[in-house]
Amino acid sequence: MDIDHDATPPDAENEARRFFLKQSMFIAGLSMAPADLLQAALAPEDGPVGNAAKVKISLTVNGKRRRISIDPRMTLLGLLRENLGLTGTKKGCDFGQCGACTVHVDGRRTLSCLTFAAMQHGSKITTIEGLSSGDNLHPLQEAFIKHDGFQCGYCTPGQVMSGVACIREGCAGSAEEVREYMSGNLCRCGAYPNIVDAILEVKMEGLKV
Ligand code: FES
Ligand code: FES
Repeated sequence: MDIDHDATPPDAENEARRFFLKQSMFIAGLSMAPADLLQAALAPEDGPVGNAAKVKISLTVNGKRRRISIDPRMTLLGLLRENLGLTGTKKGCDFGQCGACTVHVDGRRTLSCLTFAAMQHGSKITTIEGLSSGDNLHPLQEAFIKHDGFQCGYCTPGQVMSGVACIREGCAGSAEEVREYMSGNLCRCGAYPNIVDAILEVKMEGLKV
């Protein structure tokens, strides 16, 4: 089912996005950025914030097709949480350093706080909400519970999404390999050993992920 949405982030966040967008475009050399994206980035600093032309995108989120009109400066994280209500994906640092916002984009793990939603036109997004099968948890979610792979739970959605990618990408052959692959996902509660145990168990038992 197609669903139309409309979203504009708060002005303060728009300012931060403007700065981030400029930095990203200069660093990454995004010469192929959509015209609206480029226009938004190069608008005068003292110009009106929040008047950037919206762009329409179509993407699939957890198996559901979405057609959405968005501010081109909105991140994928903002789109998921603020527009689609998928708050399982967490905002930690909002700067690419903690991994709390990890989702899968076309099967690859991605930091949604560093990804513009407008660039995901046509993509397939999977969030923690899309990992389970109805009332049945994903095997790695079950393993996290079994091994106490969390305390406060704030980092857990990102840990699980990265853990699934770790197994799927064949990087869970040993505890050392898992620790290396998962090093981008921080846990202030220090549940690291339990997280590694959970991932290794799912890998060693050959459970389908
Ligand atoms: S919120 Fe995206 S890496 Fe921290
Ligand atoms: S369980 Fe609390 S931050 Fe990881």
